Amino acid sequence: MEFQSVILAAGKGTRMNSERPKVLHEVLGRPMIGHAVRAALNAGAERVVSVVGYGRRDVESWLDSHEASERIAFAVQDDQLGTGHAVWAAESYLHDGPEYTLITYGDVPLIKGETLEAFVQTVHDSGRPLGVMTARVDDPSGYGRILRRDDGDVFGIVEETDTNPQQAEIDEINAGLYVARTDFLLEALPQIIDGSPDNAQDEYYLTDLVEIAAGDPEGGVFGFPVDNPADIKGVNTRADLAEATSMLRRRINRRWMDEGVTIVDPTTTFIEPGVELGQDVVLQPGVHLRGETEIGDGTLVEDGSVIRDSTIGADVHVKPHCVVEESSVDSKTSLGPSAHLRPGADIGSNCKVGNFVEVKKARLDDGVKAGHLAYIGDAHLGARTNVGAGTITCNYDGQDKHLTETGEDVFIGSNASLVAPVHIDDGAYVGAGSTITEDVPSKALAVARGRQRNIEGWADEQDEE
Ligand code: UD1
Ligand code: MG
Repeated sequence: MEFQSVILAAGKGTRMNSERPKVLHEVLGRPMIGHAVRAALNAGAERVVSVVGYGRRDVESWLDSHEASERIAFAVQDDQLGTGHAVWAAESYLHDGPEYTLITYGDVPLIKGETLEAFVQTVHDSGRPLGVMTARVDDPSGYGRILRRDDGDVFGIVEETDTNPQQAEIDEINAGLYVARTDFLLEALPQIIDGSPDNAQDEYYLTDLVEIAAGDPEGGVFGFPVDNPADIKGVNTRADLAEATSMLRRRINRRWMDEGVTIVDPTTTFIEPGVELGQDVVLQPGVHLRGETEIGDGTLVEDGSVIRDSTIGADVHVKPHCVVEESSVDSKTSLGPSAHLRPGADIGSNCKVGNFVEVKKARLDDGVKAGHLAYIGDAHLGARTNVGAGTITCNYDGQDKHLTETGEDVFIGSNASLVAPVHIDDGAYVGAGSTITEDVPSKALAVARGRQRNIEGWADEQDEE
């Protein structure tokens, strides 16, 4: 069955009290509009039409960078006159679109693709022109309430601001997700936006579709109750945003625990949706795994470490408070505590990158050790090279970056400065405190520092004066 999805994302989101359009506020590292688009595409929508308005350049530019951007189109709603008016902004896409249209809101980020898929199919099979997703919730405040007849059929939705006291008590709410026959939309929407709106918010409500479909003897509305009300959480305020984040965090953490990951404290562990974890990974409290991060079997990530867009191998030990960004680390290596891998750090297996070591755009071959207080940038260190405490690659001459290279089994004494471009060949040694400006041949010892001079009896001479 073919359908397209229209996602409403034109509103400012006044209740967010923000300069940023509401749908660009993030839930676990991804803007809400990104969650909504992903769910629609996962459900099988051929095309997603995003209705944009407030802050549209920003919303469009985020969507243009989406991996499926060729399936995303834009409809502009210049004045945000309400959700019914917003869908009408996509009129031209309705005319040339498939038989069914799924309408979702950009501020409902937790909905799952599989739920949308079942929703579309069920409404299609019911033969009714309109389906609306509903949920029974403990606290219905802020949502539109579902009105049902005695026979159970849905006949209307009343917005909270328009409810009478009895209606306010209704705990079945409108999730903000609809499936409609496209020809029905083309017929019903003009009726909604005709004339001036008649409600407390002075807006053209999409929810009026329900009354129109219910009033048609050939029509009728299919009310589709969702199993888990947490999935249709709508975000209107910053408090809602925090709540949605913790709901998604719980859902993701639960999934990884079921798949064999130990999460010592799920309330403080944040795993974004694009992350992949191996079996027997252990995450200590306060760990943040972001973007497209992958972690191999048996790896331990200790307290407070933050890893983004990186690939970590199996049996790696990430000690507390490491920051790893756009880097890769092979198996059995140990990082930290407090190591910083910046973009382009490529660490081999059985390496040690210890306390306060910063690595950027550098390859460390297997078995390299840099235990303490070092900066390794724009470098390639051969296998088993030992980097002494305080070693610095001087990679920048004020204009360009240059490469530092070592062969295999090189030993660099503490507090050396390696002024790039420079090459230190296999098995060579660099004396502690040296400033190395020239290449060092294989197996040589390079010493480049002032020679020590001891002045005998110097202290006694001072006393005599
Ligand atoms: C809406 C529903 C309510 C439902 C709730 C679910 C209506 C009238 N009310 O209320 O029944 O329970 O969602 O979360 O539909 N938007 C536009 N253009 C506009 C207005 C809104 O694109 O002119 C977009 C917003 O960007 C937002 C979405 O539509 O993504 C919903 O708008 P919002 O103002 O949040 O509606 P609610 O008050 O939450
Ligand atoms: Mg809303």
